Amino acid sequence: MPEVHVFADPERLAEETARRVAAVVDRGVAARGRAVLGLSGGSTPRRLYERMGDAARAGGRWERTHLFWVDERFVPSTSPESNYHLVAETLLAHAGRFPGRLHPVPTQGMDREAAAHRYERDLRRLLDPAAGAGADLVLLGLGPDGHTASLFPGSPALGEGSRWVTDVDRAPQPPHLPRITTTLAFLNRAREVWFLVVGAEKAEILRTILVGPHPPDPSLPATLVRGAGPVRWFVDREAASKLPPGALPPP
Ligand code: 6PG
Repeated sequence: MPEVHVFADPERLAEETARRVAAVVDRGVAARGRAVLGLSGGSTPRRLYERMGDAARAGGRWERTHLFWVDERFVPSTSPESNYHLVAETLLAHAGRFPGRLHPVPTQGMDREAAAHRYERDLRRLLDPAAGAGADLVLLGLGPDGHTASLFPGSPALGEGSRWVTDVDRAPQPPHLPRITTTLAFLNRAREVWFLVVGAEKAEILRTILVGPHPPDPSLPATLVRGAGPVRWFVDREAASKLPPGALPPP
């Protein structure tokens, strides 16, 4: 059973994960002079991003922090469907002016394939491929079909073994938009991977993924995410409601 942390509600989950993110940043800055964090899209991380923005207002460790996106909808950054827009209206709005470096996915001025190649170049400049590990932390969500980032069940992107970034023609899950996504070859280099999952609607898929010996299963992309270090699950009580009692840490 992977490491699972259960919280009474999304607010408490956001509080604790924000505290832990700061600790990851401190470790990265102390060890390597900087921290590199991958941000997920979707609705789950909103509260966490707001708290990260509040913390970043103080500067300090956040001046040495690089933020990138684990995936993006191929729409203008001003679109409400954009994952950059999600971060802009939460983390960046709360930070006032983010003191670190942002590495958004390019979604204008080039086609989707060119954008994927450009983002790969950007990430390889940010994270030397020759170095042992990748990002200090990657934050991921979980879709009801077991997708994560924009890696969907059965997608050819799941088989990409060398490229760090690829493009997806049309997402089978809403929003049904073209996507740019980091690949498992990239995600599985991360020093830490955290899945954030909240809500009763995720209870069934979370149980499917967490319970039972699971060989990596392309029909459940989240089961293919390993990371170079620990994979941790931060879930609220509603999402954990179908996990067997023995699967949960003592209260
Ligand atoms: C995206 C995300 C995607 C998301 C899951 C969960 O671009 O939509 O990267 O993988 O994390 O679909 O989304 P919710 O947090 O909205 O449930």
